[in-house]
Amino acid sequence: MNTLIVYTHPNPTSFNHAILDNISEGLKKAGHDVRIKDLYKENFDPVLHAEDLAKLQTGDIPERIGKQQEDLLWAEGLVFIYPLWWFDRPAMLKGWFDLVLTNGLAFEYSDKGVRGLLKHKKALVIITAGGSKQYFIDTDALQLIHRPVTDGTLSFCGINDVTHRIYYDVANLSDDERADILKESAILGETFAD
Ligand SMILES: Cc1cc2nc3c(=O)[nH]c(=O)nc-3n(C[C@H](O)[C@H](O)[C@H](O)COP(=O)(O)O)c2cc1C
Repeated sequence: MNTLIVYTHPNPTSFNHAILDNISEGLKKAGHDVRIKDLYKENFDPVLHAEDLAKLQTGDIPERIGKQQEDLLWAEGLVFIYPLWWFDRPAMLKGWFDLVLTNGLAFEYSDKGVRGLLKHKKALVIITAGGSKQYFIDTDALQLIHRPVTDGTLSFCGINDVTHRIYYDVANLSDDERADILKESAILGETFAD
């Protein structure tokens, strides 16, 4: 399966990066073709500029958006790895969605309402959080974690086959807990197509 990993973290020595390494190894071990989009490393410009929007509104795809969309269309599987920032994805990843998931490619409007056009893709969403699980339960904030990406974005575009994992309290994990998460990441990669 062609799999695109969209990875968003500025620090190459982060826990998120270790998760990236393990998932991509697992995917490759299972025989998938893997492309990694490391948004910070490639200095991705996440801003949907006025000229981009003006072109999109006339049906003209700006070259830099078209290049990102080639990777999206190539992929049957999508993996997103990111830290929870303000109960949502980092702005860099939000910008990637703003630019890439365009009307006509990712969804369309018809007289029956919105139709997602990416329904044959599957996704894996991996999120790390600074807060503890108990904090999210106590503040009724659990749904904030999944709604922006899984419901608000992927499902809107027709991607309903979504697996997600959230790892809480990551700054306070023991070495064993970290090792277990990395082991699980490799397994998630290996079994992604199952
Ligand atoms: C800008 C920013 C916003 C953050 N917002 C949240 C948040 O809303 N909820 C939360 O639990 N953690 C939040 N955190 C903590 C990060 O999620 C946490 O540091 C990260 O998942 C740790 O992964 P890493 O070790 O790979 O950096 C935030 C951190 C930053 C830098």
